[in-house]
Amino acid sequence: MSRQYIDIESPQHLGLKKDCSLNPGADEVVIAVAYAGINRADLLQRAGLYPPPEDASPIMGLEVAGVVSAVGPGSQLRIGDRVCALVHGGGYATEAIARSDFCLKLADNISFEQGAALPEALLTVWYNLVERAQLKSGERLLVHGGVSGIGSVAIQIAKYLGCEVVATAGSSEKMALCQKLGADHALNYKSPLAEQLEAVSLMGSVDVVLDMVGGDLAQFNLDALAIDGRIACIGFMRGSQCQLDLIQLLMKRATMTGSTLRRLTVTEKSNCFVAVNEQVMPAIAAGTIQPVIDSIFPLKDALAAQDHMASGAHAGKILLDCQLQG
Ligand SMILES: NC(=O)c1ccc[n+]([C@@H]2O[C@H](COP(=O)([O-])OP(=O)(O)OC[C@H]3O[C@@H](n4cnc5c(N)ncnc54)[C@H](OP(=O)(O)O)[C@@H]3O)[C@@H](O)[C@H]2O)c1
Repeated sequence: MSRQYIDIESPQHLGLKKDCSLNPGADEVVIAVAYAGINRADLLQRAGLYPPPEDASPIMGLEVAGVVSAVGPGSQLRIGDRVCALVHGGGYATEAIARSDFCLKLADNISFEQGAALPEALLTVWYNLVERAQLKSGERLLVHGGVSGIGSVAIQIAKYLGCEVVATAGSSEKMALCQKLGADHALNYKSPLAEQLEAVSLMGSVDVVLDMVGGDLAQFNLDALAIDGRIACIGFMRGSQCQLDLIQLLMKRATMTGSTLRRLTVTEKSNCFVAVNEQVMPAIAAGTIQPVIDSIFPLKDALAAQDHMASGAHAGKILLDCQLQG
């Protein structure tokens, strides 16, 4: 058996390529990939703005779901296990290697499509909201990008934890989806957000902001915070530079933090997988938290799938169907 994969780094050679089947190392598994998730980071990598770590696979793709087809020594998993996983690149392929502690077993009622939509969102949301920003039951969360792959899961996890949620989106349809996912309030980022937050009497009362936007919204985030509020930055859809009046940081005893999942240590990620497995996966198996899937493209059309994400027309996750092609 050989592996098929897509090489987006050289678009002039686009098309499925073949090489040898993969062999797992110690504590690793090979996954026969059913579906892989597309992420913004893939678009940044394609644009040369987010070079992968040197030891990562040159093939794109950070998350997959499928069946374990081979196990290395020390792996806790068995051949035949249904899993989703974070991978160190290499997800845009029919086979991928994952550390066994970076896999989540999927309950029988969770499809591979749902599974492939989960790892990046679950880990990013859990690490930033719960571990860094210390979001607690009864607190108020503001999530930017409420219908993004990340935001749609953030809304649901925060509601599951017992929080009030305010979400932003760019159209009335996407605002309605935020509310369907559980958001108590939805704001349209194409109109001034401060006025909309004032209108629902929540200005200055947000405990935690999950920010993937940055740019000129950074000041709004700080202004929106309550005393002892926290901001977790995970992305910069409006750019990483801004002018900021830091007085609010002092007056509110605010905390700004940020992280990128790919650069966490193995131990940090592994600990996060344990927490997500124990504390979130039961809610996924029960259907309380459900990933939103926008669309599924064949593996060979990975470039079109990325272009669809770049267009901003989507809501939720865009997936690649990686099941063996002919
Ligand atoms: N730090 C980490 O570890 C980490 C991990 C994963 C993802 N991320 C980041 O999280 C973000 C979401 O990733 P994703 O894969 O879920 O991407 P995505 O589905 O394409 O989401 C992008 C989101 O950004 C919103 N947005 C776009 N332009 C905006 C603007 N000018 N003002 C306000 N909002 C705007 C979009 O809102 P509408 O659709 O409503 O227009 C959409 O919800 C990205 O920035 C990504 O880099 C970070």
